[in-house]
Amino acid sequence: MDQFTTHEHDVLVIGAGGAGLRAAIEASSLGCKTAVVCKSLLGKAHTVMAEGGMAAAMANVDDRDSWKVHFADTMRGGQYLNNYRMAELHAKEAPARVRELEAWGAVFDRTKEGKILQRNFGGHRYPRLAHVGDRTGLEMIRTLQDHGVHSGIEVFMEMTIIDLLKDGERVVGAVGYDRERGRFRVWHAKSVVLATGGIGRAFSITSNSWEYTGDGQALAYRAGADLLDMEFVQFHPTGMVWPPSVRGILVTEGVRGEGGVLRNKDGKRFMFDDIPDNYKPQTADNEEEGWRYVQGDKSARRPPELLTRDHVARCINREVKAGRGSPHGGVFLDIAWTRGQKDANGKTIDADYIKKKLPSMYHQFHQLAGLDITTTPMEVGPTTHYVMGGVKVDGDTQMSNVPGLFAAGEVAAGLHGANRLGGNSLSDLVVFGKRAGEFAAKYAKENGAGRVNTDQVNKSIADALAPFERGVSGGGESPYAIQFDLQQLMQKNVGIVRVESEMQEALAGIKKLSKRAETVSAIGHREFNPGWHSAIDLRNLLTISEAVTISAIERKESRGAQFRDDYPSKSDECSKYNNVLKQAGDGSMQLIRQPVRELPGELKQVIEEQKV
Ligand code: FUM
Repeated sequence: MDQFTTHEHDVLVIGAGGAGLRAAIEASSLGCKTAVVCKSLLGKAHTVMAEGGMAAAMANVDDRDSWKVHFADTMRGGQYLNNYRMAELHAKEAPARVRELEAWGAVFDRTKEGKILQRNFGGHRYPRLAHVGDRTGLEMIRTLQDHGVHSGIEVFMEMTIIDLLKDGERVVGAVGYDRERGRFRVWHAKSVVLATGGIGRAFSITSNSWEYTGDGQALAYRAGADLLDMEFVQFHPTGMVWPPSVRGILVTEGVRGEGGVLRNKDGKRFMFDDIPDNYKPQTADNEEEGWRYVQGDKSARRPPELLTRDHVARCINREVKAGRGSPHGGVFLDIAWTRGQKDANGKTIDADYIKKKLPSMYHQFHQLAGLDITTTPMEVGPTTHYVMGGVKVDGDTQMSNVPGLFAAGEVAAGLHGANRLGGNSLSDLVVFGKRAGEFAAKYAKENGAGRVNTDQVNKSIADALAPFERGVSGGGESPYAIQFDLQQLMQKNVGIVRVESEMQEALAGIKKLSKRAETVSAIGHREFNPGWHSAIDLRNLLTISEAVTISAIERKESRGAQFRDDYPSKSDECSKYNNVLKQAGDGSMQLIRQPVRELPGELKQVIEEQKV
């Protein structure tokens, strides 16, 4: 059997985005020997794609904001399927996490008075997103990285984890390989934090880069952890659509937060055509300005472009399908119209102002599409961005149902319910990254190291090397072909608008692709072999695609990010449960409906008070 190198740590963190780094910093600060293993280079994480800001009720721009309003907004956005405890902790702790980042060197934009500036974003009642232009996620990563490398964390870059290791019920580490040389390693640890992000690469149009193949969700599932609400996949309304090579790249909601409007090919602001009843204005006196009020609250002015992401994405879809889209299958997002307008401080907006507020967007469109956003509308369309579902965790500790296995950030589920509000992801990462690190450290201190089972390691290694055996014997399929077919299938059949027959077709298709994947082959040797890496990723992509599809079929209603053409309304019955997936004894995926936990009286009251 192949040799492997073993590393010993108290806490192993898998993933180095905002959640992973924050967890590692916490565990390390509590005296634990901590390792971070990441698939790519340190600093390259989907965290940077949360561009527009980090939601925290600091009340710097509107002093009516509070944790209670943030909590109520998050629960409403999640259509009350959220883990209420996570929503409560998140709303209460996010401001402290923003201030902590500032203390560690993050340079946020400022109000006139010198406070951290906060901007509007979809579904948030008040301007709440602390931001750094449109590079907030990048600044977060930079800050956490700087802080982390000085706190004694050991970092292993360009490593893929292939399996979690168990001793009885508990997790005791992980086995993986270095992508550069293809050599295997075992990380023996007292506790493990998953912080691997999302699943976007299961779809053909996505803001996610190559790393996001559902690794954490699939690793956890195979190790016996429950997955929660996997049907809820968020399609961000605005990704680039042209040129084809950049399709799906994120166009931050910050553009709409700064006043950008959506128009169809006739120049019409089509978002006014479909405004949910609870967002309708009390009076029409504001209409000519093009603003509507949030839930009748006249002092909270919001354009319809800042309705929740699911709604905006569907409206864009409708325009495109009706033949009112832009030349390349999107709609127009126009920030250039704001030139000559005054901002909230009375400052006149000009091209430099837009470039300062949205520097990355300016460069992105300039470099990739040859377009100047200060003069010309952008072409945009929905892109797979985020999964609300994931590993089911305890709200306080972030531990899964597998002892010693924790999850934080996108890979974990609960906080966002059926739909996430923009900006809640960056705060999620640091609030729950810190908690996961703290409780993983506690677990490590209270439990011994456990024993690594060499047979388990050898089996994982043998499975990982199997594509080479098939390559040598000349048979087998290309992993790229299977991945391509899967992405097309998921995009077409389990996308923004879903129906039973198409999803059943997808499920049957996934089963066929899984069969094909059993014959997948890799040729050449293990060093720098992307074909082999893709063959290994396939197993996870297929698992999470099946999880999304099974859960989406089971939820016979439209709620949050899930829109079903065959069940276009919400159902009272479906509002009462979350979907939980478990691995059955025969290896099949089993779905169990789990009743949504009832809110305690004081939190119910908070929600009631916030209904205007
Ligand atoms: O549009 C954005 O900047 C994305 C933010 C988020 O997903 O939280």
